[in-house]
Amino acid sequence: MTRSVHLSLDINTRRHELAVEPRVTLLDALREELGLTGTKKGCDQGQCGACTVHIDGKRVLACLTLAAQAEGKAITTIEGLSTTSGDLHPVQQAFLDHDAFQCGYCTPGQIMSAVACIREGRAGSEDEIREYMAGNLCRCGAYNHIVAAVRDAAEAAR
Ligand code: FES
Ligand code: FES
Repeated sequence: MTRSVHLSLDINTRRHELAVEPRVTLLDALREELGLTGTKKGCDQGQCGACTVHIDGKRVLACLTLAAQAEGKAITTIEGLSTTSGDLHPVQQAFLDHDAFQCGYCTPGQIMSAVACIREGRAGSEDEIREYMAGNLCRCGAYNHIVAAVRDAAEAAR
């Protein structure tokens, strides 16, 4: 049996202590160990984007990140995007306003990616949004609405 490692992860500005095998991904640590099930697993191979979270403000795929690699860094998940008083992040609100989801399974990853996409300055036009959101697959085909939501949120952020 592989020995567990003790990790201390800073998630949504809260410190979480956990003991996991070194092979455990950040995605599984969030979902299975910490009960933060907003981050989704669509493929576990880096191909769908459903597991997108932020590490130190940058979007990363939690299925291709070991939990141990995230130690000492600031992790943000979909659960940490709204304010503590429960106000939605502008991108969350824009997704609601534009019906930018159906089943909702890709949505946490889409939203985390969109927040980063805007921050990266990659939301200047519809084409640019499509390109820089292309790492997030949506089987419900909500792409047109997602682009509209990201566009609105990007304009509001300017
Ligand atoms: S679950 Fe990580 S990219 Fe699909
Ligand atoms: S809303 Fe269902 S996969 Fe995107």
